[in-house]
Amino acid sequence: MKLIKYIFILLAVIATLSSASYITVCQSCHGKNFEKRALGKSRVVKNLKKEEIAKRLRYFKTSNSIMKRFASPLSDKQINQIANVFGK
Ligand code: HEC
Repeated sequence: MKLIKYIFILLAVIATLSSASYITVCQSCHGKNFEKRALGKSRVVKNLKKEEIAKRLRYFKTSNSIMKRFASPLSDKQINQIANVFGK
């Protein structure tokens, strides 16, 4: 019985992590709708064009920016989703 409970908890954790929660971490700096200047440094992402957002995120993967650790785990699909949902 304990094992079953454990498996349920594990499944719940996986379900939470694999949903759009990769956006939640971004929002802590960029704002819920990417309307803020992250750490007072970035541009306001929601004002950028879709292509510009995707280009910047691909660039950050190999950059020295603080964004490297957040952009690196993103797949191309996730980058395009972010660009499409939040870009102009
Ligand atoms: C710790 C705070 C922090 C987190 C978390 C964070 N960012 Fe950023 N982001 C920044 C900062 C600071 C910059 C400006 C970096 C630079 O120019 O080197 C930036 C820049 C950007 C830019 C480019 C904007 C510009 O100025 O050109 C995009 C797009 C972006 N972030 C998207 C994201 C996404 C998507 C996530 C989540 C996967 C994310 N950020 C997570 C702080 C953060």
